[in-house]
Amino acid sequence: MESIKEFKKGMDLTAKTFAGLEELLAKELKELGADDVEIIKRGCTFRGDEALLYKVNYLSRLAIRILKPIGVFDVKNDDQLYDKVKRINWMDVFKLNQTFSVDANLFHSDMDHSHYAALKTKDAIVDQFRESTGKRPWVNVETPHIYIDVHISHNVCTISLDSSGESLHKRGYKIGSDKAPINEILAAGMIQLAGWKGDRDFYDPMCGSGTIPMEAAMLAMNIPAGYYRKEFAFMNWEGFNQELWDKTKEDADNNLTEHECNIYASDRSEKAIGITKRNLKFAGLHKDIEVKVAFFDSIKPENGGVLIMNPPYGIRMEERGEMRDLYKGIGNVLKNNFAGCEAWVICPDFDQAKFIGLRPSQKITLYNGPIETKFLKFEVYEGTKRYGDNPDERFSKEGKKDFSKRDDFRDSKDRQSDEAKRGIKKWDDGVRSLEEDRLDLQKTESDGENENYQEPNLKRSDDRKKYYKNDESNSDDRRNLNTKRSQDFEKHMESLRRFTNSDKKKSDTKKPARKRISTKKPPEAEGGDSKG
Ligand SMILES: C[S@@+](CC[C@H](N)C(=O)[O-])C[C@H]1O[C@@H](n2cnc3c(N)ncnc32)[C@H](O)[C@@H]1O
Repeated sequence: MESIKEFKKGMDLTAKTFAGLEELLAKELKELGADDVEIIKRGCTFRGDEALLYKVNYLSRLAIRILKPIGVFDVKNDDQLYDKVKRINWMDVFKLNQTFSVDANLFHSDMDHSHYAALKTKDAIVDQFRESTGKRPWVNVETPHIYIDVHISHNVCTISLDSSGESLHKRGYKIGSDKAPINEILAAGMIQLAGWKGDRDFYDPMCGSGTIPMEAAMLAMNIPAGYYRKEFAFMNWEGFNQELWDKTKEDADNNLTEHECNIYASDRSEKAIGITKRNLKFAGLHKDIEVKVAFFDSIKPENGGVLIMNPPYGIRMEERGEMRDLYKGIGNVLKNNFAGCEAWVICPDFDQAKFIGLRPSQKITLYNGPIETKFLKFEVYEGTKRYGDNPDERFSKEGKKDFSKRDDFRDSKDRQSDEAKRGIKKWDDGVRSLEEDRLDLQKTESDGENENYQEPNLKRSDDRKKYYKNDESNSDDRRNLNTKRSQDFEKHMESLRRFTNSDKKKSDTKKPARKRISTKKPPEAEGGDSKG
């Protein structure tokens, strides 16, 4: 007799990821052997067996956690939640002497307090144990044996066991990190979005503690994402199959390979580079990534390649002026030093990114935790122009400067008036104002740098005096102001020079002898550092 429903062996699973990485995750899951992969918001559902569950936890570079749903029901209030959670046979799931934790997330539901939903779930589990055995299992929020996930969306509750435990971004290869490390999963996603597969040279010239180049090396050398990690929550589950787990790891570890390209990591901070070096040594990757202290403008690839970088965010108001210079500088260096390369920059604020002055050929929205970011691709060719390099882009037909046409000027002006309306500290409180920049630019251009600028034809000294009346006034205030402006301008130019005068020294392109990473795992890792 023909069956009306095909029986499918295995279990339903859910992999969570960051918004923007869902499609890549679906592709990765299929490659790992998952069936029925479907994209959901910030994740994928799929089917697989126990072996696949172990494999995805060990190998996925893009999943934050892998959930195994054990109960799905409608829920409208706390009492319903309590009753329905209590109907799950928790004594089949874990033992009295094991600790557990509950994490709840609510979306568009009648219940509106996630902490309370977690508490109700915990009570239902504890009460079930207590009523049957007279004893209760204990909660441990730091390092529980069993992680329980509650997800309520549109009044539908899914109770899952989290097979990963600590977020999978905690790869275990870092023993330290500097300021604002990027999440490892986001870094891996960025590398894959850039299409880099270890086939071209790779650069991270603002590497901080080295997350992006380390993820790149792991990808190029087929090192599993979980290679350095010791704990996964499924190891504490009833019926955990040690033999199957050992085999999963062995199969994956047998695919380790050498990489053929060069991976370069640099940062201006000695401290950051010290941390990167220690992380690399710890992970046995110190022979696979070339690391040095260097300013971005001194990096000049000779064989093309891919650059991915994560410049400082500059969230604080007083950093905005500095950030503007930094992003302008990035545009100059990309144009001057990186012709023939593909450059990718992740930044939190597209307005800020506009100071780069190059037109991105791709713009991808990604989330770094709660922060919305843009991941921008710049294809840099010989002769690529920054926005504003072409005089037509900056000057109206009459030859007058039309600053309202400059993206950076217009956007910042809008922002300034917006911020003024909202009573936010003004840009020029201790930071150079755009108006000052504009005057400086006029001054630079009048010094002859701009071929479109025309000196007024003033032959007679009287005319000249009249024309320059203001500048020749005897006012001390005016003089002081001008002196201050030119001092400020010098400071400003000095900071920009760091980007525009590239170091003439040729970068060393000699590829060092490659050494396979030691398959002997390092001792204790502290775990990853960034938030998931
Ligand atoms: C957001 S952090 C990068 C974090 C890094 N992705 C990680 O995961 O650790 C930005 C880095 O850019 C570096 N940086 C800022 N300006 C630089 C410049 N002009 N040249 C080189 N590095 C620079 C800082 O020292 C800092 O380490």
